[in-house]
Amino acid sequence: MTTTPFDFTGRHVFVAGGSSGINFGIAQGFARAGARISLISRSQDKVDAAVEQLKALGTDAFGLAADVRQPDAVKTAVEAAAERFGPIDVLVSGAAGNFLASVLDMSPNAFKTVVDIDLMGSFHVARMAHPHLRQPGACVIQISASQAFTPTPFQAHVCAAKAGVDMLTQVLAMEWGPQGIRVNSIVPGPIADTEGLKRLAPTEETLNAMAQRVPLKRLGRTEDIARMAMLLASDWGSYITGAIIPVDGGLGLTGPRDFTAAAAASRRETR
Ligand code: HXC
Ligand code: NAP
Repeated sequence: MTTTPFDFTGRHVFVAGGSSGINFGIAQGFARAGARISLISRSQDKVDAAVEQLKALGTDAFGLAADVRQPDAVKTAVEAAAERFGPIDVLVSGAAGNFLASVLDMSPNAFKTVVDIDLMGSFHVARMAHPHLRQPGACVIQISASQAFTPTPFQAHVCAAKAGVDMLTQVLAMEWGPQGIRVNSIVPGPIADTEGLKRLAPTEETLNAMAQRVPLKRLGRTEDIARMAMLLASDWGSYITGAIIPVDGGLGLTGPRDFTAAAAASRRETR
């Protein structure tokens, strides 16, 4: 078990999209620091597997299958979570979808699907969780992406959706600040062994090229993101709100990315 300088014993952390990848890594980080975790994602099997792994870390965990595109399902899930573990101390909103496609290769429904999951989903999660957030003291963390501020070919849907997510973060920080609720975005860089990175860099060649673009010359790890989430939620983050925080090894300094080669490789594999 990794040791952690943070202590979240007894705190309640709710993670939307928490059954895999970066968001599950965040859930694991908080679980190791003593928090009780509730999580949602679409697949009941993934939710059950994640809950079992979290319990194996010695904490209590609870999950429900819910699609963030459905406000009523989100409402039911946060109510059940609050019933089980009490007010939510940390709300992590990270459900997302992605694929590489040019605007001309994207149907209206393809564009809408990603906006519905990433942006509308974040709205529904924040909106439905609000009555259950600890006031004062709750910390909301939205998981953004560099696409929010870096125009990126083959990513129009994600660029639009995540830009909206970051604007939602800033507006919520202003609206909920007086209630003692802080709201921030974390912008992960390319994180190894995640679905998101697989979709953008599907071949060994594109993966290595991505790592080489990072000033720190390595891909990120889910622990890198979990540590920032815990810092933000701890007393050390108590005066941080409305911030859009890259945790990306400096990749954001390097300018626009062109996924032409990756898109071509991806198209060969999936179509
Ligand atoms: C063009 C595509 C497509 C593709 C799907 N569509 N894949 N269009 N190119 N490769 C279109 C479909 O044809 C359909 O449009 C519409 O999108 C919806 O597709 P469905 O399969 O019906 O949607 P759904 O079952 O809701 O699945 C959502 C999904 C899927 C986003 C398409 O990939 C998913 O569930 N993803 C979750 C996991 C994931 O993506 N993880 C990565 C997150 S990383 P039509 O017109 O035919 O109906 C991330 C980016 C961060 O978010 C950056 C990383 C560095
Ligand atoms: P991932 O493992 O696919 O994580 C996405 C999670 O969201 C999964 O648990 C998925 O589970 C859930 N989900 C998807 N659609 C949902 C929906 N409609 N309703 C509820 N849950 C849903 O991918 P990841 O790469 O770790 O990405 C996690 C977050 O990090 C995303 O917000 C992504 O944009 C961001 N990000 C990732 C990277 C990277 O390098 N990977 C970089 C920058 C930003 P189900 O399939 O069970 O629904």
